[in-house]
Amino acid sequence: TYVVTDNCIMCKYTDCVEVCPVDCFYEGENTLVIHPDECIDCGVCEPECPADAIRPDTEPNMEDWVEFNRKYSELWPVITQKKDPMPTAAELDGTEGKLEKYFS
Ligand code: SF4
Ligand code: F3S
Repeated sequence: TYVVTDNCIMCKYTDCVEVCPVDCFYEGENTLVIHPDECIDCGVCEPECPADAIRPDTEPNMEDWVEFNRKYSELWPVITQKKDPMPTAAELDGTEGKLEKYFS
């Protein structure tokens, strides 16, 4: 599976949702997640993210992100259409430790 990681938080560019063939992105207040059981591993979303926030779970230390994506994809509504990024997107793109700072 692919997963959404830290740098989506407070950005939500949403370019990813437009290209997903199976509509497996889910939207929370300040980040998106991918449902790991619905993702077909096509990889097309990864290069679309301006924040480089989408990663394959084959990279090292992705276990926590897979669990994060699984947990919230079961709680949040699906998102299938691109919308405006968050107002903080450009300013906070690349900020370290977004999960601790901005996600609650
Ligand atoms: Fe959707 Fe493909 Fe990205 Fe998985 S890898 S979330 S199926 S676009
Ligand atoms: Fe987030 Fe990147 Fe999609 S910032 S909303 S994963 S395009």
